[in-house]
Amino acid sequence: MSTPSTQRDGFTSSFGVLAATLGSAVGLGNIWKFPYLTGANGGASFLVVYLLATLLVGLPVMIVEIMLGRRAKANAVTTLERLAPRGQPWWLIGAMGGLAAFLILAFYSEVAGWVFAYVFKSAAGHVLTTDPAVAGAAFEHMINSPFEALLWQWAVLVFIGAIILMGVSKGIEAVTKRLMPVLFLLLIAIGIRSMTLPGAMAGLHFLFAPDFSKITTATVLTALGLAFFKLSIGMGTMMTYGSYFRDDQNIPATATRVMLADLTVSILAGIAIFPAVFALGFKPEAGPSLLFITIPAVFANMPGGSVFLVVFFVLTAIASTGAMLSLLEVPVAVLSEKFGWSRIRAVVVSVLLLAALGSTAALSHSLLADVKPFGMTFFDLYDFLSSNIMLPLGGIGLAIFVGWVLGKNQTIDALSNGGVLANAGVVRVVVFLLRWVSPVLIALVMLKGLKDF
Ligand code: PHE
Repeated sequence: MSTPSTQRDGFTSSFGVLAATLGSAVGLGNIWKFPYLTGANGGASFLVVYLLATLLVGLPVMIVEIMLGRRAKANAVTTLERLAPRGQPWWLIGAMGGLAAFLILAFYSEVAGWVFAYVFKSAAGHVLTTDPAVAGAAFEHMINSPFEALLWQWAVLVFIGAIILMGVSKGIEAVTKRLMPVLFLLLIAIGIRSMTLPGAMAGLHFLFAPDFSKITTATVLTALGLAFFKLSIGMGTMMTYGSYFRDDQNIPATATRVMLADLTVSILAGIAIFPAVFALGFKPEAGPSLLFITIPAVFANMPGGSVFLVVFFVLTAIASTGAMLSLLEVPVAVLSEKFGWSRIRAVVVSVLLLAALGSTAALSHSLLADVKPFGMTFFDLYDFLSSNIMLPLGGIGLAIFVGWVLGKNQTIDALSNGGVLANAGVVRVVVFLLRWVSPVLIALVMLKGLKDF
């Protein structure tokens, strides 16, 4: 979507709004991160905590974040400047969001690079194997090669920079919109194959039968961070997208649909992966490699698997592109609207900075593997800082801002489209959650999590 600073672009149809917002939410978070975090944090009990975090904290924050953007019709920083009482520094939330977008893109572009690489590797027939050792070795070989890691990451960065510069983001959104249902169907097909492998039941048990003794504060903090990351909230993406929303769009309904669709994709990804993990002898706690070793193994057990494998990684690459465009849009909108930069300059500078910062993440599995600030590799550090610290902090800030500064009446007015689509009951619940529940929950979880950390 192009955003000249004078005349702002907007979404033209109600379905377009839904598709674009979904395009930001659905991405590697569903297909890569959700399964690997669920696997590493005990399975079903993590899923339960994640569901609670999404409903009690994620959804209300998403609703008001979109609302703020639509009210002010501006980038994240300007939006908060406009809506806050004079002299109060709420815009800092937007500024922190811009920073968070950089940190996320630094590792996200690396993982997207792995996905792009797997498109080619699977087309060349290099990764189709049911042997956990062979699958793991192929993946390790790729991420341990500094050259390969950097090459794929930079290719991805140039790719998304070019899409934004050529002003074809709309085209990409149109493609995403059409291909998302295909990804959906493919995930269902993989899920069916995965569930019918001998020994698959243990995987469903792992994913759906909670053992609450496995819950620790660290896993709760991770689940909360995932809820923010998944819905693209707490950092200004949804504010930026909200600024393109039409005035008669029903925000709570749209946000709820996006949340449900997003959740469905994640759970389908879980059903595609975990039965196979248990049936084929992989380890659920394999970490970031989980997707890349398990999925080829499922396809190796399917007729026509080598073709479907390529299709799967192409669709995943497209889904990740939609999410990356929405991430890059946050700093680009701030730089071009706030500092009056041309869009070209904002994009080029952002992509160059990302190549520099991102390479520390890309090389954290090879040359920089032993550099561990705070005991984490750069890759893990950027992920931890953004998902577990910055997005929840942004979420607290937004909840307090809307719940206490903007107040109930303004919120009802902003959400009910000036009385047109009034649904005051829903809005009251949202405001109540934002005042009393979300900030307290987030603060408790973060404090305890940080203490353990
Ligand atoms: N929600 C995206 C995903 O799950 C990632 C994202 C996070 C995008 C924050 C925008 C902002 O892949």
